[in-house]
Amino acid sequence: MVRNKFLDALIAIYHRLQLALVTLLVTLLVSANSLFGRVRMSHENGIACSGRLRIVDDPKFPPHDFFQPGQEFACRVRHAAASFKDDAKLVVRSASIKFQDDRFDSPLDLLMNTGTVPLFWNARTFVGFMISSMGGKGKSYVSYLRRHPQAAVGGGVSVRRNPESFGRMKYHTKTVTGFIGRDGVFRYARYRLVPDPEVEQESGEPDQWDRHHAWLQNPYRDETRTRNYLKDATRAQLEAGNALCYRLQIQLRDKPPSEEGPQPQWLSSAVPWDEERFPYLDLATVELNTALSYEESMLTWFHMGNHPVNLPIPKARSIDDPHSLNHLRLASIWARRARLLSYRLRGMPKAFPNTRKADDWVGIPPLRDPPG
Ligand code: HEM
Repeated sequence: MVRNKFLDALIAIYHRLQLALVTLLVTLLVSANSLFGRVRMSHENGIACSGRLRIVDDPKFPPHDFFQPGQEFACRVRHAAASFKDDAKLVVRSASIKFQDDRFDSPLDLLMNTGTVPLFWNARTFVGFMISSMGGKGKSYVSYLRRHPQAAVGGGVSVRRNPESFGRMKYHTKTVTGFIGRDGVFRYARYRLVPDPEVEQESGEPDQWDRHHAWLQNPYRDETRTRNYLKDATRAQLEAGNALCYRLQIQLRDKPPSEEGPQPQWLSSAVPWDEERFPYLDLATVELNTALSYEESMLTWFHMGNHPVNLPIPKARSIDDPHSLNHLRLASIWARRARLLSYRLRGMPKAFPNTRKADDWVGIPPLRDPPG
């Protein structure tokens, strides 16, 4: 018995050391990429907007010191597309919220993507995805999908093609964080941002073909939309006085009674929670009225470390622990610093042009041996 405990302690130490090493290597790689490439590791293509966020008057979630009924925040949201600088590609879209209209500081940042499940669900699968992406964005991604059919599901449900507005899509945090109410009880939380009024069907949802071939990300051959069409439409909409309106919602789940033993599978971002049993509850309304400049969008960063103590990020124990994704994300503050440092050293990259004939446009060649 004593020997078993000793062995368990050794294994736990080994797992923590492995996590620390992987975190160090990933952080070094993504920071070097941001520094030398002068880029966001992902979601380079985006537009920042500002507006107001108001906590609902009659919350249905347990009382919480940070989410006070009726409280208003000046907020900043950046909408973006993951990985490619072309709004007309088949890509994941995002909404990141700061509970303050600022470049860095904020009492809470929430980073959300379209779709309910992501392409990776712990540090181990993230490293696999990263290594395959290093072979060229999109090009080597297929080998990763072959190894992880769940990633193909994540890609299929998360990509959007040619949405008409950022305001007609739904965005999910995907990873699980903590919520400590005034009752002192720890619960797990997920958030999502949905259009207000809610839409039956999201704009840009993939059809059957795109859903099952999410790695074929190029725009249609005869595409007439420009590379910047969605950001331009957003700016035009706000300048015409038509706000982007959303509801921010929270999904809560009790902690299992015992801390011992394996973690429940439902902590994984690959496992969405049943919305009948764990309904999304209205948390706040969000109204965006102003499109910020390109420079302001580039100078803004979102960071998981921006959160109050009563909305904690659970600690990870290993590279297979679902919380290890957030562990990597916390460390990736260095990539943000590296990106801003690169602007200081070499100037901010120019906004990319509308044309796909420009040198910076990356197309994906026909892929060999795609998943079945
Ligand atoms: C399901 C998991 C994840 C979600 C939902 C997510 C979401 C996002 C979003 C929405 C953005 C864009 C923020 C913006 O507009 O500036 C972003 C950027 C970024 N993410 Fe993630 N992410 C995830 C996992 C990770 C992981 C595992 C890492 C590990 C290194 C990471 C590192 C980064 C970095 C470095 C940026 C660019 C930051 C900058 O330069 O400002 N993300 N992510």
